[in-house]
Amino acid sequence: MAPSFAQLLLLSVGALATQSHCLAASACRDISLAIPGRVEMPISIRYLAEVNSYWSLALREIKPACVVFPNSAEDVATAVTILSTYPSVNFTVKSGGHDPNSGHASVNRGVLISMAELTGATYDSETGLAKVLPGGEWNDVISDLSEYGVTVAGGRLGIVGVGGLLLQGGISFLSAQYGLAADSVVGWNTVLPNGTIAYINATTRPDLAVAMRGSGSQFGIVTEFTIQAHPIGQVWGGARIYGADQFDALYQALHNFVPGNADDPKAAIIFARSEGSGAITPLIFYFYDGAEVPADSPLAEFLAIKPLVDLTSTQSYPALLRANGELGSATSSRMSFRTYTIPYVKGHPEMYTEIADMWSNITAPHLSTSLPGLSQCSIDFQPLPAIIGAESQRRGGNAMGISGDDIDRLILELQCGWAGQQDDEVIYSMSRAMTDWLEARVPVWLANESQSNPYLPLLMNDAMGDQNVTGRYRDYAIFKALQSEMDPDGVFRNRVGGYKY
Ligand SMILES: Cc1cc2nc3c(=O)[nH]c(=O)nc-3n(C[C@H](O)[C@H](O)[C@H](O)COP(=O)(O)OP(=O)(O)OC[C@H]3O[C@@H](n4cnc5c(N)ncnc54)[C@H](O)[C@@H]3O)c2cc1C
Ligand SMILES: *[C@@H]1O[C@H](CO)[C@@H](O)[C@H](O)[C@H]1NC(C)=O
Ligand SMILES: *[C@@H]1O[C@H](CO)[C@@H](O)[C@H](O)[C@H]1NC(C)=O
Ligand SMILES: *[C@@H]1O[C@H](CO)[C@@H](O)[C@H](O)[C@H]1NC(C)=O
Ligand SMILES: *[C@@H]1O[C@H](CO)[C@@H](O)[C@H](O)[C@H]1NC(C)=O
Ligand SMILES: *[C@@H]1O[C@H](CO)[C@@H](O)[C@H](O)[C@H]1NC(C)=O
Ligand SMILES: *[C@@H]1O[C@H](CO)[C@@H](O)[C@H](O)[C@H]1NC(C)=O
Repeated sequence: MAPSFAQLLLLSVGALATQSHCLAASACRDISLAIPGRVEMPISIRYLAEVNSYWSLALREIKPACVVFPNSAEDVATAVTILSTYPSVNFTVKSGGHDPNSGHASVNRGVLISMAELTGATYDSETGLAKVLPGGEWNDVISDLSEYGVTVAGGRLGIVGVGGLLLQGGISFLSAQYGLAADSVVGWNTVLPNGTIAYINATTRPDLAVAMRGSGSQFGIVTEFTIQAHPIGQVWGGARIYGADQFDALYQALHNFVPGNADDPKAAIIFARSEGSGAITPLIFYFYDGAEVPADSPLAEFLAIKPLVDLTSTQSYPALLRANGELGSATSSRMSFRTYTIPYVKGHPEMYTEIADMWSNITAPHLSTSLPGLSQCSIDFQPLPAIIGAESQRRGGNAMGISGDDIDRLILELQCGWAGQQDDEVIYSMSRAMTDWLEARVPVWLANESQSNPYLPLLMNDAMGDQNVTGRYRDYAIFKALQSEMDPDGVFRNRVGGYKY
């Protein structure tokens, strides 16, 4: 019997898939010959360890054709140049692997370029600049720099990856003082889409120097960041966990903190509300850039509320980040992120309760039927006061386009962790339902305020892959044109994971 058209189609699709699989293996071989000892093939111990190091369990199922471990910009340039001769082979870059979105820092059957060999930081006291490598975690960078009594604006939990955080914007405990983490970066040693190595900064490429702050992976692979360092000594902070009966008092303190932060930019918080196994828990990460919190600090209202568990203390900055990281290292779940930026609505302090209740309503059908301990969802309220935009502007600005002229805002992070692949779509759709609701609800809250139509860009670090993060950037069209100019063949646009213009 002759094969049907459908069978023929299946055969040819299969052949194409096999062909691209072979081509990926062939690209891996070529790279391995050019930089011997730096390419790991499937089933090697190092390959497995790398694939199993993604923060979200779901990403550990995605298997690249090989993993390249460059230890210099030249190695990366060699790999990118060889990959340009294999237009059907996808590739991507992984620094810490904390982005939970499938296909961002992971690639199925393509080439994974891991920054695992490029870790740590050095400091030059003459220039006040740190050289920071993209691999490893913030714990490495912050402890290396602490030997010199300095630090850079970076992750708030020490376990988080470095490269992705710095390229996607990055909210730091130091942001109210120095802007987003990306805003303190003054130089990017980068392998461009055409395989050449360039040092991008405000002198060599002023347009790109802004674009590199919050565009993710679209302009090339960064092998070293030059970052303006800042002095740091003993700090105060850590986590406090409260009883659910304290939510009203805590939301009131949050509402006063957001505008109050301008009076004392050394203070910072992450306000998390997590829900699972029938309990709803307020968990707040506190930070103060100093050994003691002044009595008139905008944190004072929080500190008067009695916690159940208190992990705060005066300590070194590396010790604080390490302790925070231990609380965030949930490595046995599939994870999802989704974000939304809301305005600070002065006349509507009930907003936080309303948001939290809605998130509970949306997640209840899933959380109430999942086995205890297997699923949890949380919502984080992260203040984005206008002073962060002012600091960003002072440093030349970023792609996210925040400025001192904007209103105070909060970045919401919707996060879930769960156990089984069969629940993936349910979880993603819960987060989408929540941002759809916010999209409709925020204008209602704003109706009574003088500020109409505020600028509400999304923070790339906290987003879900299907969110049009760059499309909400003020200068979207300018950056889109710049990306086309730098990547005329669409190598990074079409073949490398991450958000696109
Ligand atoms: C526990 C936890 C805590 C967090 N805390 C914070 C926080 O305090 N502040 C904050 O802003 N965000 C925070 N995040 C979000 C975090 O910023 C993002 O997940 C970020 O992507 C992590 O960086 P990474 O190096 O692990 O990225 P990866 O997952 O390795 O990569 C993310 C994206 O960046 C690209 N990329 C990575 N490295 C390079 C490179 N060298 N050159 C070009 N492209 C590259 C990848 O291809 C991918 O598209 C946190 C996340 C987690 C899981
Ligand atoms: C490469 O990535 C693009 C964009 O994500 C995708 O459409 C395409 O199918 C991928 N190619 C292969 C061979 O996996
Ligand atoms: C950019 O880098 C060049 C070369 O290292 C240096 O001379 C110049 O001062 C740098 N410009 C800025 C703004 O950092
Ligand atoms: C959540 O559900 C409860 C009970 O149905 C309802 O009263 C409340 O209005 C809902 N909250 C929101 C924000 O819609
Ligand atoms: C807006 O103001 C009107 C009239 O004072 C009031 O009824 C309404 O509840 C307010 N809306 C919000 C969202 O605060
Ligand atoms: C993202 O937003 C931009 C700007 O509004 C728009 O031009 C673009 O088509 C959007 N992209 C997608 C994938 O929706
Ligand atoms: C690579 O791209 C950069 C930036 O567009 C350009 O300056 C450089 O000349 C290109 N190099 C090659 C070899 O084409």
